[in-house]
Amino acid sequence: MSTLHAAAEPATSEPGGVSRGVELYAQNCTACHGVGGGGDGPASLAFKPRPYNFRHLQPDVSEIDRVLRVGVPGTAMLAFPTLSEPDRQALAAYVRSLYGQAAEQGSLKAAAPVNKP
Ligand code: HEC
Repeated sequence: MSTLHAAAEPATSEPGGVSRGVELYAQNCTACHGVGGGGDGPASLAFKPRPYNFRHLQPDVSEIDRVLRVGVPGTAMLAFPTLSEPDRQALAAYVRSLYGQAAEQGSLKAAAPVNKP
């Protein structure tokens, strides 16, 4: 008895999925969600509600997939209709990998102005 089940599985849980996610995230998400996922990208201050901080919140894969397809109505979070399903999966894997990372890691906050007396 043979089954081809394994061959039919999409390769989304492979590390390659995450590196594709890194690339897509850098191109499409950092302006708002920040390089390190802290919700502190250069455009983030312009929005209410503010972009999600993925270091503190970890939406599940189906939620990220849904948000990328339809966006979050009434917020700056728009749909990304050009992303393919594997691309959405890769992004979901990457976004979830940001959870729990230290604030200073990859953050743009280092560029914040120094306090003046
Ligand atoms: C123009 C700014 C902007 C860009 C670009 C952007 N986002 Fe968002 N995102 C937001 C805002 C604002 C929210 C908060 C929405 C809310 O409060 O429900 C958000 C929320 C989210 C959420 C959580 C939504 C929920 O309610 O569960 C996910 C997941 C997300 N973004 C993923 C991404 C990904 C992945 C990208 C890149 C493909 C991206 N975003 C690009 C502004 C942006």
